[in-house]
Amino acid sequence: MADSNWVDVGEAAGWADGALREVHVGRQRVAVSRRGDTFGAVSGVCNHVGGPLGEGTLDGEYIVCPWHYWKFHRATGEGEPGYEEDRVPRHDVKVEDGRVLVSAQATTKRGHLPHPPHELARDPVPHEGPPRVLGISTTNMDVKHPRTSTSKLLLEHALQHARDELGLETQLIDLAALSFRACEGFYSKSAHACTWPCSITQMDKKDEMDEVYEALVHWADVVLLATPIRWGAASSLYQKMIERLNCVQNQVTLRNRVLIRDKVAAFVITGGQDNVQAVAGSALGFFAELGFVFPPFPYVAHSRGWSAEDMETNVRVVEGSEELREGTRALLERAVTLSTRLRADTMCAASLPRGGRKAHRDRKAASDSGATS
Ligand code: FES
Repeated sequence: MADSNWVDVGEAAGWADGALREVHVGRQRVAVSRRGDTFGAVSGVCNHVGGPLGEGTLDGEYIVCPWHYWKFHRATGEGEPGYEEDRVPRHDVKVEDGRVLVSAQATTKRGHLPHPPHELARDPVPHEGPPRVLGISTTNMDVKHPRTSTSKLLLEHALQHARDELGLETQLIDLAALSFRACEGFYSKSAHACTWPCSITQMDKKDEMDEVYEALVHWADVVLLATPIRWGAASSLYQKMIERLNCVQNQVTLRNRVLIRDKVAAFVITGGQDNVQAVAGSALGFFAELGFVFPPFPYVAHSRGWSAEDMETNVRVVEGSEELREGTRALLERAVTLSTRLRADTMCAASLPRGGRKAHRDRKAASDSGATS
């Protein structure tokens, strides 16, 4: 009589030396690997946030999770040295008549070492008192050899107005002064691999994007973002930042958890060439997806236009323009007024009805049933 504890998962010859594959044992995913003549079988579900260990790689005797690179011994399931207690279940495995057999029941239990939550993972808590204003300058430059940025000039003027005339607390983040890594596309592996806080922030203590997350999610009520126009688009630093902010938006998609609530965003856009409305439209679209709301006429902009190749005069024009300064102060005041009203009478819930939003249930039901329209 067949032993129901053993499940045939395929031909042994199907595993080359050094191969790692995911197999299904009943409803369990198991990572089966081969080194020489020795097979190993451990749970295919990573301890971290469930990455598919069977789709990882082998580093010596350790499986490297493809999502965020945690390691587990391919035969015992133990974590790498120093983290042995962070273990995934192991299964017995044997080869008979050229077939690989894996035990249906795991022979050890999953174990977790305590991992204190990252400081950023706390729930955002509204604060007492007047709105706080965060300015973010996305102009790129060598900070050891600074030059005048017209968008930053107007941004700093608005922040000074907020402090001196409105008595508000302000903070300026200069992206050019921060060292942070580009988004490495965890979301493209799986939405669940894109974590909050960002996986890079959790893995790399030197990465300084945490300053932006902390200010945007936990500190600010009003965000005034300044960008130059570069070939018809916002600056490359702006793009680098918003790719790293995908994890904030992804919390809405994955967990219906809205981290940005009742916060206001507005924009300062300056450039040597036109395309102001496209840059503004893109920024408005992204910040709306994060949960921000906007004051009436949510941006001020300045452009030299197509015909005037005289950028050497541009800084002087902006520096000398009381009209632009007045417009930026008024934008800041509209944003602060809206923030004050929102904070007195909240309009954004902590979770959303999902119909029509990303990854809502009807769409999943349609794809499960094979419907295409
Ligand atoms: S390291 Fe495996 S899921 Fe993150």
